[in-house]
Amino acid sequence: MSQKIKKAVIPAAGLGTRFLPATKTVPKELFPLVDRPILLLIVEEAVRAGIEDIVIVAGRGKTAIEDFFDTSYEVEDKLYKDGKESLLAELLRIKSLANVISIRQKEAGGLGHAVLAARPVVGNQPFAVLLGDELLVSQKDEPTATAHLARCFESSGVSTVAVMEVPTDDVNKYGIIAHQGEKDGVFQVSSVVEKPRPEQAPSRLALPGRYVFDSAIFEHLASVRPGVIGEIQLTDGMTSLAQKEGLNATRVPGRRFDAGDKFGYLQASIELGLEHPEVGDKLRRYLKDLASRIG
Ligand code: UTP
Repeated sequence: MSQKIKKAVIPAAGLGTRFLPATKTVPKELFPLVDRPILLLIVEEAVRAGIEDIVIVAGRGKTAIEDFFDTSYEVEDKLYKDGKESLLAELLRIKSLANVISIRQKEAGGLGHAVLAARPVVGNQPFAVLLGDELLVSQKDEPTATAHLARCFESSGVSTVAVMEVPTDDVNKYGIIAHQGEKDGVFQVSSVVEKPRPEQAPSRLALPGRYVFDSAIFEHLASVRPGVIGEIQLTDGMTSLAQKEGLNATRVPGRRFDAGDKFGYLQASIELGLEHPEVGDKLRRYLKDLASRIG
């Protein structure tokens, strides 16, 4: 039985260029899905997996992320005086969800560089990585994607990452794994290719942004040389890890939304809006009416 996963890293220091101009001053990780920031849903996914320490890798212009998990005396005092108890309780719950630790990535040097920035906090323990703009929404009674990966790691002792099948035309948007076959739902990864052309893709199994790594990944990332655009790719570190220590991949539960992409964000807003206790029914009626009008 391997060590339990108690720490998670959430890279949230990217420039969010796909969502400009909105991301010029507002971190996309804090964009709301109805009334909850994307990042809160991701932190909750980690907490449901038993994670206690959350390391958020932030960058310049992203201090609102730290503030979100801190005390807001003025707002709390107002809610208390107005007798808005359930809203106040929700704010207090968010503050005590986990130990939120913030660290800076001083330049957006790629995802591998962002994960490496968390090394001083994570140390030599295994840890999860959840991308700050990727949502994996699971039902209340099913394990979260991160919980599934953590249990796989705890029973195998091998770093394990999430994969999902994508259409051939979409492989160039993702990291894609090459593997040596599947056994009991687990693929043994041989390498990972970043955004391959469809004719060069080793499979259609893409990385949706959930990982559990042994701390050895840091050594591999530290020796990765920056690619053509000067970024340290997480996928290069993963290939090196796969070849030296081993790397598994498995499908995970949950609906996945790329909330850092305009269309993915709209899809997540609609689907989570439909499930929202306050606005869900109203939104459903509105969408039906809209569909009949636009055909
Ligand atoms: P993305 O590639 O989706 O983020 O990285 P990005 O670079 O901000 O996006 P675009 O393409 O310019 O729109 C996935 C996650 O990793 C973080 C991002 O903040 C996002 O949550 N990230 C990315 C970092 O923390 N540092 C980086 O150098 C790159």
